[in-house]
Amino acid sequence: MKLKTFITLAVGIVFLQSCTSKKTESNQTTDSLTVNKIKKTVFGTLPDGRVADQYTLKNANGMEIKISNYGGVITHWTAPDKDGKFEDIVLGFDSLSGYLTPPPYFGAIIGRYGNRIAKGKFTLDGKNYQLAKNNGENHLHGGLVGYDKVLWNAEPMEGEESALKLTYLSKDGEEGYPGNLNITVVYTLLRDNSLKMDYSATTDKATVINLTNHSYFNLSGFKKDILDEEVTLNADRYLPVDKGLIPTGELRLVTGTVFDFTKPTLIEKGINEVKDEQIKLGGGYDHAWILNKKGNELSLAATVLEKTSGRKMEVLTTEPAIQFYTGNFLDGKLTGKGDVKYVKRFALCLESEHYPDSPNQSAFPTVVLKPNEKYSTTTIYKLSVEK
Ligand code: GLA
Repeated sequence: MKLKTFITLAVGIVFLQSCTSKKTESNQTTDSLTVNKIKKTVFGTLPDGRVADQYTLKNANGMEIKISNYGGVITHWTAPDKDGKFEDIVLGFDSLSGYLTPPPYFGAIIGRYGNRIAKGKFTLDGKNYQLAKNNGENHLHGGLVGYDKVLWNAEPMEGEESALKLTYLSKDGEEGYPGNLNITVVYTLLRDNSLKMDYSATTDKATVINLTNHSYFNLSGFKKDILDEEVTLNADRYLPVDKGLIPTGELRLVTGTVFDFTKPTLIEKGINEVKDEQIKLGGGYDHAWILNKKGNELSLAATVLEKTSGRKMEVLTTEPAIQFYTGNFLDGKLTGKGDVKYVKRFALCLESEHYPDSPNQSAFPTVVLKPNEKYSTTTIYKLSVEK
């Protein structure tokens, strides 16, 4: 009897101890969850009465990224400079209304087809499709109501790293594209100050797809334009374009041209070189560079360094190309967060993607997605500082 009491007591003590240590563990988890907890607030109301939300992702370093389910837009992104000062580095607006009078795709998810399709036409499986011509005579960034202008379903995913899962069903025939396309985009803020974007999709009919994100970065924290930022692109070739910014089909070597960013190069060095026909056509840089890579492995595509703040951004992607766009169409008419005027070349975009106009250029890697296939790509924007 005595022995039984002793055993009961001993087991009890061991049990209590294990509970205490579990509690400590769970407290630690709770702490990291507090850091990674996603805050949801109302961002605004759409003209049809639907409410758009804004989600704040935060990591243990104090980095904060705000994303709306309207267009999947990254509205704010605060990143430290070399002295540890956090500043916003993406163009955008404080409230939803700024995004409703079509701004130039600030921070948004772009699709069904990011970039241009010549004359908005393509043929797939013997059938002709006509899309909206919303950029001169060409189709741009998914058409009149692309994925940047729709409300996505959002599901915050809290854990070791905070993530936001966005889903959207793009119906058969939407903006003229064939096939019901089920899309998922997961934004994850990593502990190394990277934002990982995982895109996936399936379709019930053959379609074309090219998803990307259209964030406009100003690494100085809005203090100046991007001209003295230093860019490196891991690309020996780029795609020259015609006057409508449609690739001519040539894969041109960058060597000896102002398109050579194989080594760190100041943007201002070549951006105004109007003797270069391609600079003239683009009004600066607005071209796709073909990445040096073997297949669709995740590899370094681009690096941008802003020396005054020390902020550096690396772009890694599984995609075969990157559109480097220097905000040539910004004209100072838009006033964004903190009453800052978005003047020409106030920001740059690095849009990971397949080649523009691929549906019409059979020599380019295919952008066709068939039923029973899964579209899956990843792009990472990684922020750090260089002292
Ligand atoms: C892309 C295009 C540019 C321009 C911007 C949006 O980057 O390549 O030509 O249309 O989007 O203004």
